[in-house]
Amino acid sequence: MNIVLTGFMGTGKTSVGRLLAKALGFDFVDMDAVIEDRAGRSISEIFAAEGEDHFRKLERGLVGELCARPRLVIATGGGIVLDPRNVEDFVENCFVVCLNADPATILERVAREGHRPLLECGDKEGRIRSIMSRRADMYARVPHQIDTDGLSVEQVAADILLEYNRCRIG
Ligand code: S3P
Repeated sequence: MNIVLTGFMGTGKTSVGRLLAKALGFDFVDMDAVIEDRAGRSISEIFAAEGEDHFRKLERGLVGELCARPRLVIATGGGIVLDPRNVEDFVENCFVVCLNADPATILERVAREGHRPLLECGDKEGRIRSIMSRRADMYARVPHQIDTDGLSVEQVAADILLEYNRCRIG
């Protein structure tokens, strides 16, 4: 069964996903990277040229595609939960986890990176807090929740594996 990692920007979906895929012998798919490859431009360029709605449509199409493929670890973009159908489709077909972290942890992780269009304007911490509180209910709908504060990427991956194996056996 595929593993899908959701969660806010900077919660470690990509790093954890790579480790999990390696441990399970599954392929790793980073949805943002697939969208960028296919579009031939970065997420920021897609947002600027075609708008966020267009990006959300590309994400929506990719969800269906990935649900039909076996043995994947999928790192989603942080906004995948905005369309409830994405979460429903993933939950129906995959083991879906939400990685959580405090705004301060996220700020620290994203502070040096400039590739997230939703955090580029104005006060980063304020943007993180307001987007996070707007999405709190949506992230809460994901069946498996992991608190990543103070944990290494390896520890988060190990926790997820434990839960994944427990669910497969149980
Ligand atoms: C977004 C998160 C980003 C990327 C895009 C929008 C969001 O992915 O998909 O910038 O709406 O939260 P990461 O969560 O990998 O940063």
